[in-house]
Amino acid sequence: MAVRTAVIPAAGMGTRFLPATRATPKELLPIYDTPALQFVIDEAAQAGCTRVVIVTSRAKPSIESYASAASTDKVAVSVVYQDSPLGLGHAVSCARQVVGDEPFVVMLPDEIMGDASLTKQLVALHEKSGKSSIGLKRVAATEVSSYGNVKVAVYKSDTEDAVEILQVVEKPKPADAVSDIVIIGRYVFSPNIFDKLEQIKPSANGELQLTDALEMLANERALLGVVSEITRYDTGTPMGLLRAVIEIALERKDVGQQLNSWLKEKFNK
Ligand code: G1P
Repeated sequence: MAVRTAVIPAAGMGTRFLPATRATPKELLPIYDTPALQFVIDEAAQAGCTRVVIVTSRAKPSIESYASAASTDKVAVSVVYQDSPLGLGHAVSCARQVVGDEPFVVMLPDEIMGDASLTKQLVALHEKSGKSSIGLKRVAATEVSSYGNVKVAVYKSDTEDAVEILQVVEKPKPADAVSDIVIIGRYVFSPNIFDKLEQIKPSANGELQLTDALEMLANERALLGVVSEITRYDTGTPMGLLRAVIEIALERKDVGQQLNSWLKEKFNK
């Protein structure tokens, strides 16, 4: 079945970005002149999605205002609410009714991708295999503990770099890492993920972890991945956001040259 819906979890309080997030949700902080959220909406549309569902909190009314002006002739943007901060797994389950009984994409707006190629590959892999498929990347050993970490096996497919996922561990201690491959924030799910999310138990911090549902799929050999070398900006921290602003502005035709000259002038002094 074609994948037409993208779910964007955006209910977090953005405490790392205080005091900015007292008034502006982190998903609306600008990358030069465009909110991070818009990059993710555009990526969904480029990957062929015609519906975007943003999971947000009633404490962030500007997300709804933004969404109400963000629909285009290609993509309809709407919001649903996550009334309590019970984790990423819970956020995804809040979209169940709107998504319906069909496959869908989940895109974490803390990560901006250089283009829509990874999401397109995941959609293609899902459409061919019928299995949930997630975005992966190799990272330095020191970074593994910040992410979901996976053990993989080769998977025969036409999709480049496709793997079968054998094990998933959320943010392992360095000694417990199962590989140097981590989950980056793009997922294509079969609708049975919602049943898995109903079965998982809250983790030690009381949150429902999406990774626990992924682990259930991996145990059934029902989870694939694509190990990607895509350009990726992690905008989940103020320094990550600043780097994304500079790098993305340097790539822009309208301001890139000007920024480049200013940086050279500044550092040649
Ligand atoms: C979440 C997931 C983690 C994944 C990461 C990607 O973690 O739980 O498995 O690797 O997103 O950004 P968070 O960054 O929300 O702590």
